[in-house]
Amino acid sequence: MLNFLKRKKLFDQLLFDANYYRTQVETELAQKSDKALRKHFIAEGLAAGKAGSPIFNAAYYIENNEDVKVVMGNDYHTAIDHFLKHGIFENRRTSPHFNVNYYCNANKDLLKNIGRDYLALYHHYMQHGRYENRTCNPDATPDSFMIELTNQCNLRCITCPREYKFGHEMDVGQMDYDKLRHLLDNIMPLAKSINLTGLGETFLYKKLPEISEAILNYPKEIKTFLSTNAQTPNCLHMFEQIRDKVNLVQISIDGVGETYQKVRNKASFSTLTANVKKMAEMAAGTKTSLMFNVVAFPINYQTLPDIVRFAKDVGVGHVHINSRNLTTIPEVDINEYEFYRTAEFKSFVHAAEEIAQKLGVGFSIYDNNGFCELVYNHFYITWDGFLVPCCAKPFPKELHFGNVFDESLTACIRSYQTSLFRSDWDNNNTPSFCRRCHVLH
Ligand SMILES: C[S@@+](CC[C@H](N)C(=O)[O-])C[C@H]1O[C@@H](n2cnc3c(N)ncnc32)[C@H](O)[C@@H]1O
Ligand code: SF4
Ligand code: SF4
Repeated sequence: MLNFLKRKKLFDQLLFDANYYRTQVETELAQKSDKALRKHFIAEGLAAGKAGSPIFNAAYYIENNEDVKVVMGNDYHTAIDHFLKHGIFENRRTSPHFNVNYYCNANKDLLKNIGRDYLALYHHYMQHGRYENRTCNPDATPDSFMIELTNQCNLRCITCPREYKFGHEMDVGQMDYDKLRHLLDNIMPLAKSINLTGLGETFLYKKLPEISEAILNYPKEIKTFLSTNAQTPNCLHMFEQIRDKVNLVQISIDGVGETYQKVRNKASFSTLTANVKKMAEMAAGTKTSLMFNVVAFPINYQTLPDIVRFAKDVGVGHVHINSRNLTTIPEVDINEYEFYRTAEFKSFVHAAEEIAQKLGVGFSIYDNNGFCELVYNHFYITWDGFLVPCCAKPFPKELHFGNVFDESLTACIRSYQTSLFRSDWDNNNTPSFCRRCHVLH
């Protein structure tokens, strides 16, 4: 008897599924009974490099696990045996269609309820996850894009990476409109959502209305989003032209009154109040929703309840709270993240949430759970065309995956640098790029 059949039950539960195998073989064979197919897989299919289950492909297993390859060469039977004895309990690359560690990371309920019990995760996927169409493949293409129209700004917020070392070293400018239109053509087949925001003030990009309109004219529904400081002289005029074109407009508010102005250098709270009230009136009855985004940190957390009351007063329907990301603020010690675990901070969040409930204002707060989905489904494109991982560090001098104005978007997405970045995550290693990110602390 073949060695791996000593673990017959496990083999049948995880490594052979007749219906899956039917999709891998020629039509004539596919019409045979489950029993005949199992026999075929063991006798011929496996040795021919076919997979009997979405979670395991012997050839892939050998190719992607150097220690197995060294010992087993190209013996697919022994590879299955190795997997059932050892690999099944470990974080291994087992199939081009399934990655057990990613499966756990990307499905938050599994991370919480099963954790890194790899055997249980394989069972979960075969019994439930695959029928629920759960995310399980880290090589999936991205569907969320952030486009930095400009990284110029009229304010000098003390939360913002622009104001620290990396920001001081970045090249500053606006995206060329023709290049942007061409980029959109390339993004559209993949995109489900587009955020027209970068490390600058979005309303300073004069052709924002044209670009919002252009996105609407593609024959595909895209969720569009942008963030503004609502402090530019053209704020209301600009908003008038984009309302009803963009789904969600986020207005940044890092405190009320004096605190707001202390955090948002060069901003005026009375200007914010007047502008937001008008924007709320203009948004009424359109498809555009307004939301406040607060970067909470030790200087402003006590104003959280006031921000919720303010939202109600000016007609903004939702308040979202984020923590201050220190990825690109090396000047601040990451001990600051401890602050978010204090009873003091939590009590102000709780008070703000209670008031929000009472006033009928939507309320949400960051969920920093140690895993970053953006690594797989998202990219950020800087004003000068560099593809970078995310808005936490939109600095191509630090890391980029190519330039979409010089090469195709697909080439950048599939670049060696991109796969290196992702494979670190697959192997539970945090890339040095991400180590200071609030998502992980
Ligand atoms: C970088 S700004 C660009 C758009 C616009 N200038 C604005 O302020 O809304 C986008 C959002 O990022 C937030 N932000 C800035 N620095 C941050 C940080 N260190 N951590 C988390 N969010 C930050 C801002 O408050 C704003 O809501
Ligand atoms: S307004 Fe936005 S981009 Fe400008 S400094 Fe503030 S957070 Fe940064
Ligand atoms: S820095 Fe890394 S962990 Fe943080 S948001 Fe970006 S990709 Fe995710």
